[in-house]
Amino acid sequence: MTITETGVARSDEPNSEGYHTFQLGEFAFRRDEYFVYISWPTGQHIMSVDSFLRAMQRDVAWDFFYGIVNFDGVFGTVNHYGTVDIFAGRYNDSYRKAELDYSENHETPTIRETFKAILADWTNETFDPFASPHETGAAWGIKNGENLGAVTRRRVAARRMVSVPGDEQIRTDDSGFPVNRHFLDVDQSEPVIEAEPGFEGEVVAFNLFAYLSRSDVTWNPSVVSACRDSLFCPTTEEYILPIIHGNDRVEWFVQLSDQITWEVEDRDTGAVRARVVMKAGDVCAMPADIRHQGYSPKRSMLLVWENNSSKVPELIASGQAPTYPVDF
Ligand code: PHB
Ligand code: FE
Repeated sequence: MTITETGVARSDEPNSEGYHTFQLGEFAFRRDEYFVYISWPTGQHIMSVDSFLRAMQRDVAWDFFYGIVNFDGVFGTVNHYGTVDIFAGRYNDSYRKAELDYSENHETPTIRETFKAILADWTNETFDPFASPHETGAAWGIKNGENLGAVTRRRVAARRMVSVPGDEQIRTDDSGFPVNRHFLDVDQSEPVIEAEPGFEGEVVAFNLFAYLSRSDVTWNPSVVSACRDSLFCPTTEEYILPIIHGNDRVEWFVQLSDQITWEVEDRDTGAVRARVVMKAGDVCAMPADIRHQGYSPKRSMLLVWENNSSKVPELIASGQAPTYPVDF
């Protein structure tokens, strides 16, 4: 192993398929043509490389997200906002009962740099982990170039709102964001603003549907407006959410177009709790004690509404705030 400039433990030489192996604490990671192999002192795990890279891409891009990012029913991360747990079997009833679950806590930069290095080394030129499966080439095979542009895409995060001067701008053909094949019927006209005299520079509006119709990624909520801790994070979805998200706070979903089926499970054991079919116009709240994964048969638009307050997870974990958002 060599320790790279960014502190990542990486094999000196690539393996016979051309990929480096990596080590983080007692976790070891290697890939071959089809699979990723993860091992730790009490066990080992195998994942399809496309699923693994899609999950890893989101964990890195979202800086470990809110709460738990399960890559699948075994492996994942828990965000403690400054440190991150990396675990195997911790949210899996069978692993827990057999006392085979394992977890380590690392400083966020350590795990971030390791995951970035794995993602960069294992993603071939043909594969874009953020794209829908229909819009990318394959992840398989022996090492074949790299796709650093895709795996280090800048994350959209409006400070106030998309289209405000100096903030994130709307998407156009000229800025490299053509309308997606599934959204060719979406009206592309921008709102007409008629401000009172004296307020011309202060009123801003944009067409959110047009904006989303031009997204080149899937399952990637990005901030389009922020009002203190209230973040509107819409996203376009197609195929399967590549992670199973374990919440540490309530999230609201507003289905803006088409349809998504959500599989909802107990956050800690994985026991099935609900299946939620959301059609255009439906609104639901995901409680703070579940995990969920979405299935979108056609590209759809979803508004995820997040409460970004750093106080919320502790209030819920300590029982001072409920795990659900409203009492009727
Ligand atoms: C979620 O975990 O709530 C989530 C993540 C990514 C999406 C949509 C929802 O694209
Ligand atoms: Fe979620």
